[in-house]
Amino acid sequence: MSGCRVCHGVVTPFLDLGKQPLSDAFPADAEEAEKEYFYNLRVGSCRSCSMVQLIDEVPREQMFNDGYPYRSSLSSVMRDHFERTARELLDTELSGPDPFLVELGCNDGVLLRTVAGRGVRHLGVEPSAGVAELARSTNVSVLTDFFEERTARRVHAEHGQADVVYAANTFCHIPYLDSVFAGLDVLLKPDGVLVFEDPYLGDIVDRASFDQIYDEHFYLFSAKSVAAMAHRFGFELVDVERLPVHGGEVRYRVARAGARTPSPAVADLLAEEDRRALHAPATLEDFARRVDRICDDLVSLLERLRGEGKRVVAYGATAKSATVTNRAGIGPTLVETVYDSTPEKQGRLTPGAHIPVAASTGFADPYPDFALLFAWNHADEIMRRESVFRESGGKWILYVPDVRVV
Ligand code: SAH
Ligand code: TMP
Ligand code: ZN
Repeated sequence: MSGCRVCHGVVTPFLDLGKQPLSDAFPADAEEAEKEYFYNLRVGSCRSCSMVQLIDEVPREQMFNDGYPYRSSLSSVMRDHFERTARELLDTELSGPDPFLVELGCNDGVLLRTVAGRGVRHLGVEPSAGVAELARSTNVSVLTDFFEERTARRVHAEHGQADVVYAANTFCHIPYLDSVFAGLDVLLKPDGVLVFEDPYLGDIVDRASFDQIYDEHFYLFSAKSVAAMAHRFGFELVDVERLPVHGGEVRYRVARAGARTPSPAVADLLAEEDRRALHAPATLEDFARRVDRICDDLVSLLERLRGEGKRVVAYGATAKSATVTNRAGIGPTLVETVYDSTPEKQGRLTPGAHIPVAASTGFADPYPDFALLFAWNHADEIMRRESVFRESGGKWILYVPDVRVV
């Protein structure tokens, strides 16, 4: 049995999502589809530090390279979220003389462009060359590399210490957090802060959103596991803030141990996790049973609709949907096409399930009877934009926290 990636304790598996392809690798054609990389998607919880993590690790270069298709700026809600976050950081942590911000996983520069616009020193560290280039085209400074101790030392040598190291939907992508914290120890100013936000285990369990689990999401963080991790590496969890984006996240603030007074929100969230027994084996096993039920219900619904001759498509070729389609066995016979706004995904096939991906402009041409909303985390934005679909009789299919038609 593999040990905990953070504390080397014993990790007990509680959910097996089977053989899965890389969630963001969309084969261009049938020939490429034959050569897909598969791994075992199993999740466990550390008996010592409670960290929920994948059992098997996919080599990072397989996932994050110049072909990486995810673009943060395609969602207007996320653009607003990151602009607001950048402004908040500029007005607080970055308001001193000549501040310096480092962002891990800056993607296409969705947050840093606001910082660059204010003329504040910044650097994105982003291994996926394609999206890093998009960021540079908006005047954002980017180092094309993985963040780890080596990179942190290089950034420190070239730019000095940072006031803030920020990461959105990236910290949970990095299995080797021991190296990351060793780097932060070099890079962060004595009173500097690490701010990161990722899908929250508490929301994933509440919503049964098992599709938040895939190759890139190596960790499912909670206040308890992050507090233990920070402590282990000489740091301290000093604030938590729940965020509504991506189906429920937490923004964690971590400082050097003793450097800042923890806010009451930390103790509150720790107490809530305790009260609801978030980390108890029974809670996690119940979550796993709900996943089985959702997959069975979804396939039954899709098979019934096919039997009735309905036209069913999907909306949003999300990385999350790889977990759903490959776990439940949903392919092109049940879902005709997936519509998506990402140019890099269009004209390709979804990972493993091989459903064709088409430009979302084709969704209305003509509307299907049913649309399975894989991008449920963007439901408000998408349902608003596609409101004519429902007005003309179309129905959305949602599957978390349970399968339903709306
Ligand atoms: N921050 C953006 C992008 C999230 S996608 C947002 O919230 O929308 C995750 C990003 O992290 C990808 O662009 C990926 O290339 C990058 N990434 C993966 N591993 C990394 C590492 N070790 N260091 C820095 N970035 C990494
Ligand atoms: P995410 O859930 O990982 O953010 O991915 C969202 C996917 O959905 C991404 O491939 C882009 C796509 N998408 C659309 O097609 N239309 C939209 O309006 C939005 C917000 C996303
Ligand atoms: Zn552990």
